[in-house]
Amino acid sequence: MTSQLESLRKHSLVVADTGDIDAVARWRPQDATTNPSLLLASAEDPRFRHLVDRDMDRVFVNFGCEILKHVPGRVSTEVDARLSFDAEKSIEKARRFISLYEKAGVKRERILIKLAATWEGIRAAERLEREGIHCNMTLLFSFAQAAACADAGVTLISPFVGRIYDWHKQARKVDDIPLEEDPGVASVTRIYTYYKKHDYATQVMGASFRKTGQILALAGCDLLTIAPDLLDKLAKTEAEVPRCLSPDAASRADVMKVFLDEKAFRWQHNEDAMATDKLAEGIRRFDADARKLEKLLISLSAATKAA
Ligand code: E4P
Repeated sequence: MTSQLESLRKHSLVVADTGDIDAVARWRPQDATTNPSLLLASAEDPRFRHLVDRDMDRVFVNFGCEILKHVPGRVSTEVDARLSFDAEKSIEKARRFISLYEKAGVKRERILIKLAATWEGIRAAERLEREGIHCNMTLLFSFAQAAACADAGVTLISPFVGRIYDWHKQARKVDDIPLEEDPGVASVTRIYTYYKKHDYATQVMGASFRKTGQILALAGCDLLTIAPDLLDKLAKTEAEVPRCLSPDAASRADVMKVFLDEKAFRWQHNEDAMATDKLAEGIRRFDADARKLEKLLISLSAATKAA
């Protein structure tokens, strides 16, 4: 009998969603993803103190380089949430990350620059992709965001499952939503079907999971980024995982292609109350954690000088 994790690997590339280097080394995923909240947790961890620097960009890159020692593929490094509405500054930040990585001997092919899927973030990604800087569009909650990212030719999107599920649980005042009705799973399924039906090259990586059922319901998605506690549960459960998403099934779906200019994008995204709430909240949360990390770096550097 095989574990759910091994069985899942036959259908989707498994990615570790963590800044914990030991967890990456243990799970040996294809790729790894980080975000400011995950890196704040790791920077606070004494095991990784040697990766902490006074400069936040360098901290992100130090963790990225260390993670890359344990994965054959790519690491995602996220642009400061404060730049979510500034395409020019986002591009500058992405170029700085790439230059720090290249100075450390890491080629740009192994890096995904994570940007919030705002209109400005998507425009920044479109230009970065032309420079050979690959992007992973995050905080993706609406179909409008997904459609605009595909048209911009980004390498990869991370549609969130768990945060959509959280929003609907709260709105419906329930403790759980069964998988068959899970709006997060339905969102990724719709996006995957649309991309494959219309032959978009952009990869779909389901992200933000709350339970293993949500992951298994998306078996077949190009990639799935999974936190260590859920990887552990999947590894400990023995069962074959059937494929749920496939390009073949998607090709038979009856879905029209849409083209969104800026006005249509803003209108359609705004029509989705969950997506507008969650995108705004996600930017605030990543920013708050980045500010906490900034304070931590200042206090650690003061402590080092005083010692
Ligand atoms: C990954 O790319 C995302 O940042 C992550 O999956 C978000 O997960 P969360 O909703 O559990 O914070």
